[in-house]
Amino acid sequence: MIDPMFPKAFVDTVRAGAQWLRPGVVAAGQAPATVRKPRPRAAAGLVPIRSVGPRERHRILSHLLALSQRDRYLRFGYAASDEQVQRYVDGLDFQRDELFGIYNRRLEIIAMAHLAFAPTGQDGSCAEFGVSVSEHARGRGYGARLFERAVVVARNEGVSMLFIHALSENTAMLRIARNAGATVVRSGSESEAHLELPAPSLDSRVSGIALGQFGEVDFQLKARAHQFWTFLAGLQEVRSGVRDARQRSAP
Ligand SMILES: CC(C)(COP(=O)(O)OP(=O)(O)OC[C@H]1O[C@@H](n2cnc3c(N)ncnc32)[C@H](O)[C@@H]1OP(=O)(O)O)[C@@H](O)C(=O)NCCC(=O)NCCS
Repeated sequence: MIDPMFPKAFVDTVRAGAQWLRPGVVAAGQAPATVRKPRPRAAAGLVPIRSVGPRERHRILSHLLALSQRDRYLRFGYAASDEQVQRYVDGLDFQRDELFGIYNRRLEIIAMAHLAFAPTGQDGSCAEFGVSVSEHARGRGYGARLFERAVVVARNEGVSMLFIHALSENTAMLRIARNAGATVVRSGSESEAHLELPAPSLDSRVSGIALGQFGEVDFQLKARAHQFWTFLAGLQEVRSGVRDARQRSAP
């Protein structure tokens, strides 16, 4: 049941999301890999983005480990080994920072962002944004949507300056930052972008709540669908086991 306080467009989008869960539709994780694709319609509008919790470290790890060496280099600024990725995931501070994820129907994270707030004692009004999108899901606007979400959350947390460190060759990331109005300063092979955020408003707070709810509703729908199909697959296995046993015991 969707809360009636949400605008009609929001409710329609959630319903469209439920429709998207029907069997027979190609899962995001099954799309063929290409460098850039035309954006599917769903990504052009509202994309369900959910806050990722500490019990989902395994999902974050799987997503990051699936990134190529090149992508890990772009994401972390060095070609992180599996052990370094594991250490990064183990060290995530879910109380201080915000992690966001976009999930496929198998509840795998296909895009995620890390909004890291300045540690206590340092300038509390700054945060840093890091993002990664699985190769097969690129070019659909997920990176940009994650950035927009991070902006809303950072603003509502009182952050006045959002930083993005990227390699100068990272055209896609710098484009996301520039499109959002960030100032990009290039320093050789590295670039730093910063975006000044206005103070929180009633609008930004309502958006934060609505977007959070939307991501959560989408995740719960996917979780139920996933549970249901797993149950059916189990039932199917039992049936074929019984059928095989009958055939074997038949005279
Ligand atoms: C950078 C990254 C997150 C972009 O994700 P994405 O979902 O493919 O990006 P989007 O679809 O939102 O595209 C954002 C913008 O970049 C552009 N873009 C996307 N891929 C591009 C590419 N390969 N070359 C040039 N521009 C590109 C898009 O056209 C879009 O700009 P537009 O809105 O003006 O058309 C993704 O490529 C990635 O995960 N890279 C590896 C990790 C990384 O580099 N992280 C960033 C450092 S923290």
